[in-house]
Amino acid sequence: MTEIVNKTRRRLLIATSVMGGAGLVLASVPFLASWRPSDRAKAQGAPVDVDFSKLKPGQMLTVEWRGQPVWVIRRTPEMLAVLDKIADILVDPNSTVESQQPPYTRNLYRSIKPEVMVVIGICTHLGCVPTEHFPVGAASGIEADWPGGYFCHCHGSKFDLAGRVFKNVPAPTNLVVPPHVFLGDTRVLVGINTEMTGQAAAG
Ligand code: FES
Repeated sequence: MTEIVNKTRRRLLIATSVMGGAGLVLASVPFLASWRPSDRAKAQGAPVDVDFSKLKPGQMLTVEWRGQPVWVIRRTPEMLAVLDKIADILVDPNSTVESQQPPYTRNLYRSIKPEVMVVIGICTHLGCVPTEHFPVGAASGIEADWPGGYFCHCHGSKFDLAGRVFKNVPAPTNLVVPPHVFLGDTRVLVGINTEMTGQAAAG
């Protein structure tokens, strides 16, 4: 079991499918032209600017924010179609636990843009990093009626493609959606709220 835990933890900062560009906020960012992270702010985890333009539908990338892996997932229409069909197997399908997501992502998709999911890739049980299993059914290697999502190999917790936790697993709550704001069609700033920039959230 220790080996499995260590193996899972080593995945922490390894891009699962595609590694995207990420860096501290640049002065040219709209709405934030006068904002500069101080050294102290950087140490505490300044926002991370993620370019996911190379991400194809059905792929995800991993970046680091405040020492945590954050996944950006480009969901396909087929992936989105599953989300409103599996409420009966989920603990909190409507994302009612306030601490698990910002208010502007408290919707069916748990995202600002349905096709782009941003979520912290840390299991809410004891902190392992789950593994993506996007294929549905037996092809996932999980179970025959698997709807697509994430499986935590440490103790068997399961999450759907919106990071919502399944019933009867050790993890108590959905994965955490970090504050974030889109800076364009293929650029997202992780670690800052839409309210801080004046950007309207959709969905
Ligand atoms: S840490 Fe994920 S199931 Fe225990």
